[in-house]
Amino acid sequence: MDPRGLIMVHPVWQVASTLLGFYAAWFGIKRLRSLHLGHQVSFPRARHVLLGKLALMGLILGTAGGAIMVRWMWRGWLVTGAHAWLGMVVAVLALLGLTTGLVLERRPRPRRALPLLHGLANLTLLALCLVNFYFGDHILDALGD
Ligand code: HEM
Ligand code: HEM
Repeated sequence: MDPRGLIMVHPVWQVASTLLGFYAAWFGIKRLRSLHLGHQVSFPRARHVLLGKLALMGLILGTAGGAIMVRWMWRGWLVTGAHAWLGMVVAVLALLGLTTGLVLERRPRPRRALPLLHGLANLTLLALCLVNFYFGDHILDALGD
């Protein structure tokens, strides 16, 4: 494959995973409303779990893929500054979101604190992904794409 095509795999993958994350968040916010605000809204749990897993695993793989591409192209780890460091924060939050999500899925019981931690970690990482779109676009500019 031509190297320019290869460089675009990571941005396209990350944007797609982030969009899946927002779709999962749409259902997650329904749960937040029913659990903490007393609103009568249904929560499609299975759909939320499936979309959430696809999004978070996609983001973790895509972030690792970006780092491996940079290592391969520029022979160094985390050389792109803000984009790389924000990526590390996203990966850590995604691991936290995934592990807390798995506990909530597999050991269901009435809880308030863990779902809140889970929801805040995941909503924060989605916001950071949007910021990283901006820094990622600068890398593409620097590469002349
Ligand atoms: C981008 C991905 C995700 C986002 C944005 C997200 C967001 C949320 C939010 C906002 C809530 C409501 C929290 C609350 O009421 O305090 C929630 C609940 C929940 N999430 Fe996620 N989540 C994601 C991924 C996942 C994954 C991967 C799993 C499972 C492996 C999962 C399982 C659950 C479960 C089971 C609940 C309901 C908890 C309960 O009823 O006590 N989520 N999520
Ligand atoms: C979900 C959001 C994203 C995260 C968490 C993320 C994370 C990362 C990380 C950790 C690296 C390795 C940096 C290094 O080692 O110095 C990287 C590389 C890179 N990122 Fe991102 N990124 C995201 C979205 C984007 C977007 C939307 C673009 C483009 C608009 C982009 C463009 C790039 C480029 C061009 C590279 C160089 C390697 C490659 O293309 O595979 N990234 N990214």
